[in-house]
Amino acid sequence: MVRTHTCGQLTLDNINQEVILQGWVAKVRKMGGLTFVDLRDRYGITQLLIGEQLSSKLELLKNEYVIQVSGKVIERKSKNKDILTGEIEIEVKDIVLINKSELTPFEIKDNIESSEETRLTFRYLDLRRKEVQNKLIMRSKMNYSIRNYFNDLDFIEIETPVFGKSTPEGARDFLVPSRLNPQKFYALPQSPQLYKQLFMIAGFDKYFQIVKCFRDEDLRIDRQPEFTQLDMEMGFATSQDVMETIEKLVKKVIFDLKGVNINEPIKVMSWQESFEKYGNDKPDLRFGYEIHCLDEIFKNSQVPLFMNLENKTIRSICVNNLLSKKELENLLETAKQNSVNILGFAKYDNSEWSGSIGSKLNVQEKLSLIKNFDIKNESTILFVVDEYQKALKALGAIRSHVGKMQNLCDPNDYKLLWVVDFPLFEWSEEENRYVAAHHPFTMPSDDTLDNFDTDKANAKAKAYDIVLNGFEIGGGSQRITDPSIQKRMFDAIELSENQIEQNFGWFVNAYKYGAPYHSGCALGLDRIIMILTGAENIREVIAFPKNSSGIDPMTNAPDLVTNAQLDELKIKIK
Ligand code: AMO
Repeated sequence: MVRTHTCGQLTLDNINQEVILQGWVAKVRKMGGLTFVDLRDRYGITQLLIGEQLSSKLELLKNEYVIQVSGKVIERKSKNKDILTGEIEIEVKDIVLINKSELTPFEIKDNIESSEETRLTFRYLDLRRKEVQNKLIMRSKMNYSIRNYFNDLDFIEIETPVFGKSTPEGARDFLVPSRLNPQKFYALPQSPQLYKQLFMIAGFDKYFQIVKCFRDEDLRIDRQPEFTQLDMEMGFATSQDVMETIEKLVKKVIFDLKGVNINEPIKVMSWQESFEKYGNDKPDLRFGYEIHCLDEIFKNSQVPLFMNLENKTIRSICVNNLLSKKELENLLETAKQNSVNILGFAKYDNSEWSGSIGSKLNVQEKLSLIKNFDIKNESTILFVVDEYQKALKALGAIRSHVGKMQNLCDPNDYKLLWVVDFPLFEWSEEENRYVAAHHPFTMPSDDTLDNFDTDKANAKAKAYDIVLNGFEIGGGSQRITDPSIQKRMFDAIELSENQIEQNFGWFVNAYKYGAPYHSGCALGLDRIIMILTGAENIREVIAFPKNSSGIDPMTNAPDLVTNAQLDELKIKIK
């Protein structure tokens, strides 16, 4: 290497040393006969001091030109204590041009205003920016931390195929046509689920893999069509064993990346409790505002919203201050997005009650509310009256909105949670049948094993999700290893013999040859990095992500292909 140091390395300890640096011109300032340049590489910035004797080379000092300088390390007069190299500068003796740059479409610096679309079109320039680089450096550290962890525990990293078979009972697959087998398609894996189960049958009792997964779903702030999982499976292991292994891993990753030590065991909550208290199965526990059921308090109420309830329930949260008209309007919008059109409210201020509900309460109701929510100071109580599911979901969204609106979520606070006892099935309106809530290889809970297929609405799964700051960062389950239970499961989701044979025959067969009991889990690594770097969107932590329409603005993928390509694949566009 020609360079003697990086741009983030030199300090007062190097004074008087002759050095060679290489990097990008980040900033140029002229002061009298002197020119000051910030030279940048991924390690940092070093200030260059260029005297008049190099005036013929000043044309090489344009933003984003790549240069090499040689010179002496000297102490700086005006020091910058914020950066490691801030106390020195290089008295430059020579400058060599390595490469020129055109004017970049946006400035290479943090906190720029440029649109995301432009930044993604020139993502390689976006990736030159420190704040973006830091996110990818964190990813690299995370992968290293994960591999170390599993290596120490004697896990084996095994790769699984990317070209697989399309199977029903999951999200939509991405398909790849096979030229050698016209009319036939591979499916890209939504996860290595079935393969990792086969590893257990094969006897690899501790498997892990950092692996790309593909799902053709609608995109959201925490969803990309291709994303990365830490996938793992353990043989002769129960849910409890896997949860303990994953818990230690997640805590280690948070410590290795953020230096935060989480000592207390992760709280475990049933799916039912999570839904009742927070309106969803991935609550942000960095703030309270639990949902209360107020049916009992208002059962004889004369407040119009609380009368003639029939199959409706009254659910409520209490916010610890007086919400403004604008804030209430914004929260009503959130309610409406969740199919609830009325958001009642009561304000409590200095023993005075007001608001759409507050002004109509009788003395007893006021006292009950104060007791129920333990109200001491100014508060706003929000009420939703609707069917059970709808009311809780809407209030869950309202609770999250309040959390954001009032900055209740400290980004440096990491609140983990296990959610367990998930329903085994979900009712699908579209298909008019019960479908597997997790996947159809999930073991029913001990207490519902006998009748999970006759009482599907109440069947529970040996499944678990891990939640961090309001995001589901992972999930897994104990698997069905008994072919007779697997058969009952397929029957329960109304798969015919034919469908079972065609889709899963190869897989079901494997369980005839001696399977250990086994359990596993997968973590969404993009989501974890998104949370640990405080990113607003999963795209920020992926080197070359797709935009919200599933397009890569840089390459313009997905794109049309030639007729010749289609002919070869025997495909005709409709
Ligand atoms: P699951 O489907 O819950 O489980 O996925 C595991 C984790 O992967 C992340 N994730 C995603 N991240 C970004 N974009 C997406 N589109 C996306 N979809 C999922 C989430 C999620 O918690 N095979 C099972 C695991 C098992 O049972 O062992 C599985 O894939 O963080």
